[in-house]
Amino acid sequence: MLELKNVSYQVEDELGQKEILHDVNLKIEDKKYVVITGPNGGGKSTLAKLIAGIWKPTAGQILLDGEDITDLGITERARKGIGYAFQQPVRFKGIQVLDLMRIAAGKNLSAAAACEYLSEVGLCAKDYINREINASLSGGELKRIEIATVLARATKLSVFDEPEAGIDLWSFQNLIQVFQSIKKRNAGGSILIISHQERILGIADEIVVIREGQVSTQGPKDEILPGLIGSADATMECRKNGIPHTGSDEKEDCREEDQE
Ligand SMILES: Nc1ncnc2c1ncn2[C@@H]1O[C@H](COP(=O)(O)OP(=O)(O)OP(=O)(O)O)[C@@H](O)[C@H]1O
Ligand SMILES: [Mg+2]
Repeated sequence: MLELKNVSYQVEDELGQKEILHDVNLKIEDKKYVVITGPNGGGKSTLAKLIAGIWKPTAGQILLDGEDITDLGITERARKGIGYAFQQPVRFKGIQVLDLMRIAAGKNLSAAAACEYLSEVGLCAKDYINREINASLSGGELKRIEIATVLARATKLSVFDEPEAGIDLWSFQNLIQVFQSIKKRNAGGSILIISHQERILGIADEIVVIREGQVSTQGPKDEILPGLIGSADATMECRKNGIPHTGSDEKEDCREEDQE
């Protein structure tokens, strides 16, 4: 189980101290599929980075199965079974897909095993296994490779920050299946996904809403989801007549408002 106790995160910017997360308490039980959602800028990615060990909280503690891991970095946390996929995947110049998957797995993964993970995320594995992780990969390809690396780790906790970003519609359906199969396969582990997508929220056990740096709502999906859609907790920046808009027509609506 992962536990966050009174976790806060402050940064120093040109206006002085800025608190991005304030006194967050959160428990992620084993075998649970938890989705974190909430408005843009609420602090979700920051929270994911604190859990993965990329950044360190300025106050509070992070415990994994009761062990304090607050001071451990990303590599040590990865060894303990915390896998993380960025919202904006990183490109590693000079490294091939197979190397990256081996680094992620922490062992000499066979090419055939790596191919299986790549196939699972909808990539034609043999075309990708020796590709370099550079600018020639599209955003969606890179995102899928990254999800495959998290699969390869067979983790205690897999953290995905907006895995749907940049993935086309056909693959999105696949992505939902990928998460369902991770859930089945990852016997003791749990999955933490940050997402704005209703379909990803729909397959969660629990939903946590992060808003203005704090947990504003938390509970079983069946309790939280019905009240969430269209509420302030799900609000995006684009509003029309006070009603929040989501979906592909959002940009058009904002443009109309600009002209009014
Ligand atoms: N180093 C930093 N300096 C100043 N502000 C920062 C820093 N890092 C993050 N922030 C701010 O903290 C807030 C939370 O950012 P974060 O990326 O965690 O939001 P988010 O909930 O993931 O948003 P989104 O849904 O858009 O991905 C934002 O307002 C962001 O601009
Ligand atoms: Mg984010």
